[in-house]
Amino acid sequence: MVQDYTEYLEKIILTEKQIQDRIKELGAEISRDYQGKELLIICILRGGVMFTTDIVRQISVPLAIEFMAVSSYGSGVRKSEGEVRITLDLNSSITDKHVLILEDIIDSGNTLASVIDMLKTRNPASLFICTLLDKYERREVDVPIRYCGFKIKNEFVFGYGLDMDEYYRNLPFIGVVNPEKYVPPT
Ligand code: IMP
Ligand code: MG
Repeated sequence: MVQDYTEYLEKIILTEKQIQDRIKELGAEISRDYQGKELLIICILRGGVMFTTDIVRQISVPLAIEFMAVSSYGSGVRKSEGEVRITLDLNSSITDKHVLILEDIIDSGNTLASVIDMLKTRNPASLFICTLLDKYERREVDVPIRYCGFKIKNEFVFGYGLDMDEYYRNLPFIGVVNPEKYVPPT
């Protein structure tokens, strides 16, 4: 059964082509910056999955991929404030590695700020963030972003890894929800 997203969709803000074109640019930039080095990619589950699988195919330096999942209190609740908990930790050491975190979206910044604090204690050689989307108007905690796909307005978006109550992550584009049809978690 094909999930019908059309009733929730107000408009598509990033088409599949726009996303893939930008990912090629980011991949080339990362490949240049890490020339002569090896990368350890950390994909933040679950939203970062699509972005990770597409961008790693555009990076030419040797790399390994690790996965990490974080959550706040209840499931399905957006991690908008404090208390971020690791629900799936990395499988290998990041000590002395060049670590690049791949995330779908940075909103308040709380999730990534906690992840960064925690990973720094493991003494990586370097630690940077690459996010597909930056919802900058909502930032509460400063997060240093080295690579950003697109800056977006303060609207709830879905598709390409981003979920609406866990659905629609598999859409190839990113759309804004119709606020009359869906109330985002706060
Ligand atoms: P932050 O800690 O507020 O930066 O939260 C980031 C997390 O909230 C992301 O990893 C997403 O899971 C989720 N999130 C924030 N904005 C959106 C959105 O517009 N659509 C879907 N998920 C979102
Ligand atoms: Mg997420």
